[in-house]
Amino acid sequence: MPLQFLLAGESHGKGLTGIVVGYPAGVRLDQERIRRVMKARQAGHGRSRRQQIEQDEVEFTAGLRHGVTMGSPIALWIANQDHVRWREEMAPWPVEGGSPNLVTRPRPGHVDLAGALKWDHNDIRNALEHASARLTAMRVAIGCLAQALMDACAIQSVSHVLRIGRESSGPQADPFVMRDQINASPVRCAAPEPEARMIAAIDHAKEAGDSLGGVVEVRVRGLPAGMGSNGHWTSRLDGRTAQAVMSIQAFKAVEIGDGVESASSPGSRTHDPIGYDPAQVTGAGHFIRSSNHAGGVEGGLSNGEDLIVRGWVKPIPTLMNPLPSVNIHTHQPEPAHVERADVCVVPAASVIAEAAVCWVVAETLVERFGGDTISQLASRVDEYRRYLVTR
Ligand SMILES: Cc1cc2nc3c(=O)[nH]c(=O)nc-3n(C[C@H](O)[C@H](O)[C@H](O)COP(=O)(O)O)c2cc1C
Repeated sequence: MPLQFLLAGESHGKGLTGIVVGYPAGVRLDQERIRRVMKARQAGHGRSRRQQIEQDEVEFTAGLRHGVTMGSPIALWIANQDHVRWREEMAPWPVEGGSPNLVTRPRPGHVDLAGALKWDHNDIRNALEHASARLTAMRVAIGCLAQALMDACAIQSVSHVLRIGRESSGPQADPFVMRDQINASPVRCAAPEPEARMIAAIDHAKEAGDSLGGVVEVRVRGLPAGMGSNGHWTSRLDGRTAQAVMSIQAFKAVEIGDGVESASSPGSRTHDPIGYDPAQVTGAGHFIRSSNHAGGVEGGLSNGEDLIVRGWVKPIPTLMNPLPSVNIHTHQPEPAHVERADVCVVPAASVIAEAAVCWVVAETLVERFGGDTISQLASRVDEYRRYLVTR
């Protein structure tokens, strides 16, 4: 069975539900690690007070016994602590008098207008609740399952922030080496001087009632060459990775390796020369590269180098200084709806993008090596790596 997941939930509903099928038996999950990753999604300079209200404790209601997956569907639950204040507003059954707080002024940049038109809603809340990035809590929880599967195959991931607004991190040391500093940074940037500039930019946006976007990077190390496929357009590793990251709220562009720069560079400075060194073992056996502009993907397949994925995050749509909008009931001009909101979500977005990329990696592993038990999967990956060094 292919590895798949489904999500359900609303931002201010009772909680978030995730169902994962096709996940191997025998994976030992690390509860503390899941807690750490969930906290990383909640953290970051520029988040709203909502993050102090939520616990984001992941509950497994099926598929996990004594910390080990059973091979059956895995069901996950994350309670929305904020729901207590929204019980009536979000009640599944009719409440007396209906909702007194209809949302009628769509926010530019959010799902509000298109969602109200599509589903014929008079209360925009019916569209915005499931569109909310609150749902990314579950994507990160499910990403933890992907990371546990990758661990068993000696594949690692890391994510960090390259830019917030106009403030760039500049050249960075290997993020795998800087992981502790990245995790300790309120903007997930390991370099102290750019970190301070990014924090100041967020503070400035907050004072102005504005919001800020930025750029994040995810890297995956240890992926053997040949993962993914070009047998069909939907199976290319680059296409699948881009889809996974673009599907996260507020992501507006995705780059693999130096994809953007490559459009204006000659081929001689774009492609990564191939060498062979029997003394080295890479993800492609003894084949080595002197650069990785391709970001670890050629022809829709991993090539054994680090998978490098960058995502561009737009500034969030809810502005304390709202943009002009129109009341969908009266058609009169009014400022857009305002509710509690983050100012900058770029650090959190890096954690979510990492979860999304890891999910694609896990999918390709299960596809290529089978997913009944983790020990079979891991030993097949080892066997494949042994084959690669014979080439
Ligand atoms: C972690 C995270 C938190 C977000 N928080 C907010 C928020 O508080 N207010 C808001 O208007 N948008 C927020 N967004 C962005 C919206 O969810 C997103 O812009 C909206 O769903 C429309 O989707 P689109 O931007 O992908 O077109 C957040 C996004 C992320 C990734």
